[in-house]
Amino acid sequence: MDRRTVLQGAGSGLALSVLPGAGVAYAARTGHAARSAPSLVPGSPPAPSPAPSVVLPERGAINLNAGWRFHPGDIEAPATKTFQDSYLSAKAGGARGAAAVGFDDTAWRLLDLPHDWAIESPLSSDENGTLGYRHRGFGWYRRSLVFDPALAGRYLELQFGAIATNATIWFNGTPVVHNWSGYNSMAIDVTALANFGAPNTLAVRVDAQAAEAWAYEGAGIYRDVWLIDRPPIGLVTDGVHADPRRGEDGIWHIPVEATVYSIGNAVGMVDVVAELLGPDGHVVASARGALHAAPLERTALGLMLDKIQPDLWSPDRPVLYTVRTRLVVDGRITDERVTPCGFRTIRFDPAHGLLLNSQPLKIKGVCLRQDHAGTGVAIPAALVDWRLRQLKAMGCNAIRVAHGAPDRAVLDACDRLGLLVMDENRNFNTSPDYLAQLEWLVRRDRNHPCVFLWSIFNEEPIQNSVQGYEMARRSTALVKSLDDSRPVTAAMSSVTNSKASVAQAVDVVGFNYQNAGYDRFHSSYPDKPMLSSEDCSAFMTRGAVKSDKAAHVASGDDSEHAAWGLSHRAAWKAIDTRPFVAGGFCWTGFDYHGEPTPYAWPSNSSLFGILDLCGFPKAAFSIRRALWRKDVPVLDILPHWNRAGDEGKPLKVLIATNLDRVQLRLGGRVVGDGKPDPYDMITFDVPYAPGRLEAIGWKDGAQIARSVVETTGPATALRLILDRQGLLGDGFDAQPVRIEAVDARGRMVPTANIAVTLTIGNGRLIGVGNGDPTSLAPSKGNRVETFNGLAQTIVQTIAGTSGKMLLSASAPGLAGAGVAMAITPAQVARSLPPLLSQVVRLWRQSPVMPIRASLIQGIADSDMNSWAPVIAGEPPQPATGVGYVMVLAKAVLTEPMRRRGTVLRFQAIQGAGDVLVDGRVAATKPDAAAAPLSVALPPHDGDIVIALVLHVKAGEAVGLAGQVVLEAAGLS
Ligand code: GAL
Repeated sequence: MDRRTVLQGAGSGLALSVLPGAGVAYAARTGHAARSAPSLVPGSPPAPSPAPSVVLPERGAINLNAGWRFHPGDIEAPATKTFQDSYLSAKAGGARGAAAVGFDDTAWRLLDLPHDWAIESPLSSDENGTLGYRHRGFGWYRRSLVFDPALAGRYLELQFGAIATNATIWFNGTPVVHNWSGYNSMAIDVTALANFGAPNTLAVRVDAQAAEAWAYEGAGIYRDVWLIDRPPIGLVTDGVHADPRRGEDGIWHIPVEATVYSIGNAVGMVDVVAELLGPDGHVVASARGALHAAPLERTALGLMLDKIQPDLWSPDRPVLYTVRTRLVVDGRITDERVTPCGFRTIRFDPAHGLLLNSQPLKIKGVCLRQDHAGTGVAIPAALVDWRLRQLKAMGCNAIRVAHGAPDRAVLDACDRLGLLVMDENRNFNTSPDYLAQLEWLVRRDRNHPCVFLWSIFNEEPIQNSVQGYEMARRSTALVKSLDDSRPVTAAMSSVTNSKASVAQAVDVVGFNYQNAGYDRFHSSYPDKPMLSSEDCSAFMTRGAVKSDKAAHVASGDDSEHAAWGLSHRAAWKAIDTRPFVAGGFCWTGFDYHGEPTPYAWPSNSSLFGILDLCGFPKAAFSIRRALWRKDVPVLDILPHWNRAGDEGKPLKVLIATNLDRVQLRLGGRVVGDGKPDPYDMITFDVPYAPGRLEAIGWKDGAQIARSVVETTGPATALRLILDRQGLLGDGFDAQPVRIEAVDARGRMVPTANIAVTLTIGNGRLIGVGNGDPTSLAPSKGNRVETFNGLAQTIVQTIAGTSGKMLLSASAPGLAGAGVAMAITPAQVARSLPPLLSQVVRLWRQSPVMPIRASLIQGIADSDMNSWAPVIAGEPPQPATGVGYVMVLAKAVLTEPMRRRGTVLRFQAIQGAGDVLVDGRVAATKPDAAAAPLSVALPPHDGDIVIALVLHVKAGEAVGLAGQVVLEAAGLS
């Protein structure tokens, strides 16, 4: 039984109800001149739109990507051996081992996020091939951060964009997250647990042994980490829902729901002001209301922005508005959230497919995984934007994020560039933990105009069963309760006519492959909208002229595809010729690591992409472009014409074109002339002779396009091609640089495989690659080999830099190349520096003893009651009695402390007495008034016991009035 057979579910024949479709009809407001689509030069993407180099979760968010310590592999917590170990490890703040506050992580590698440790590790045939032949296993991350004392009293939340795959996060030794998916974000309220003016410790254990995909999904904290700082009454995360609706009269309104959370002690009053801002930033509509926020409760307020006559959003013209929601207290703006907004209607019609703004729009989509050569899954926002621009240039108007929530940068770019998004849930599971993941997805993404369809799963084996139906019904109902404006689909690998099928529980039926089943289902269920959620699965190697199984090469002539799929041309024809199929999502836009179909080791990435792992177009790009673009002439000659050894042999030349007549000339002589089929296009057999192959194309009798492919000479030089001439010096901005091997006349040599060494100044290389699915070369470093003429490196700025980034490339025997990129100084995101210090916790304070010496004995390990636990920083309480008290804690010294010595800082000791370290007096505090005290300790092997022995007079309060911090000497 093969994989496909396993995925076929069985129907059971129950009669079940069908959920109604969503969306309303729309009539466009007149009076707005249509802006022309961005002008395009064939073969090049649209001019870059201003893309943010980092997508902040909200204004003022503080970035925490810098300065993490990383340890590959797992670390077992030391076994508990005593009563005290067990007792304390079961308490808040009592984590042991690498999760503990005082753990010594200083020998760990220092790195910045986002990070994918799998892509750094070598490829190995011993590892699981479908997951990319790389070791994943476990890993630990730690960092400390100090909150300014001015933040005390504010709401503090940590946000992790995503961690692959399962993760546990500890904050100050308390577990705060157990997360069971590598695709969803984690938002953690740490307000109650935070130290101010002293270090807080974050520890993350990542279990990437767990996997949720059958392709590469990276390992580690691969999306950004943020600290959110809000006022005591603040808008909650994803707490503004503002999705426009069109009224019967054609006038639009936006119901805005704003949800606040209060950490205050009493009911607070805030005004909520919602404003719609036009693309030019001017206020178009506004509404205001008042809200009473009860302590430690979420309170929602509904407002209406109405009487709006907007410019509509569409893939051709992605007009973006924003909704700005503000909280105002006593006339002062205390919090603000800006959410994207676009006006468009969506309706899936069972006979005519998708109607966007009442106009039929065929979905020309691709499936995408978050993955790229060199970076793995840790893709910077600027690279996300670049990748999507390549697709847009091809005529693609939609993406499907397979198979789990995308980075927020993807949605930001799709809103801006005009790409529809089928937003997909990862885990089909209706238990509370997993429905929470689906809820999170909808809440995060429901304001984005680009999101037009929710997908509750991909290819679930129980799709044709009562169980599957019931689960789909629940998932769909949850989505609808959060967003009733978009339809729900499921990507099904087997659509049957059965009534006990997920097909009956969703609005739009998603067909994965099964092209032969389109007509059958449509005639059985003519009222059910449908689309191809996945199709094609064609194989191609970039630059390949013919297939070579032994070398794991698939030809670029669109002749190879998976048994369950079709060629690019046949897959699209099956969709395009059926108006009731709303469109399709080709598997896939780009190659991705893992799932190395149809080959295995040393092939380690897929061959499905229209573009390769680096985003270099394969022949499929020309084919899809010819199929999808109607606005520009497409006339591409495939493949290249460097065919030494084939002299005189008839070679197939495919012309990817959307024109209606093509003539092909070799060295000026006509070697072919004909009328291309709109889907199959046209192929000529041309006896090979080196030289110039030229295509001339006609449309409606007019000659409108020419293109040329020439036999090149050998490579003599390298060339570097930038996407953008400049970058922001914010530490986030990045771009792929194309490395070409060129001949003496500057023509890219499509057969050249040349080892290149890169040198960078004032910047960093975050990855290299060449798109060869069989390449076993490292993804990191400064060496890369061109594959069929091309290679790529991704450069990124370093935070706080300016001037020029210089990149040069050299290869023995070839002329080298260099480029300079201007760096504009920029501070986009605030960031908190990490610290090499730790807070000493878990203090215990003795009762008052009349004799000082009796205290020095300390306390039995198992006695957790005679001495009171005290929290450093809480105001000390008046003592009963006269004499002495001891306040004691144990601390773990980190390696730099052991080596360099330690500064022991008491923020405030209240009372007079001695500081003892390992039983010896290290300092004396003569005055009783609360005051700071620092003690320099010499280098020391082993951990320490810190104790304070304080005099107590009648009714006096003594103790730790502030935090106690250990810091490696010489740090501040
Ligand atoms: C589909 C599946 C995708 C990918 C593809 C390869 O069945 O949904 O994730 O595995 O096959 O053809």
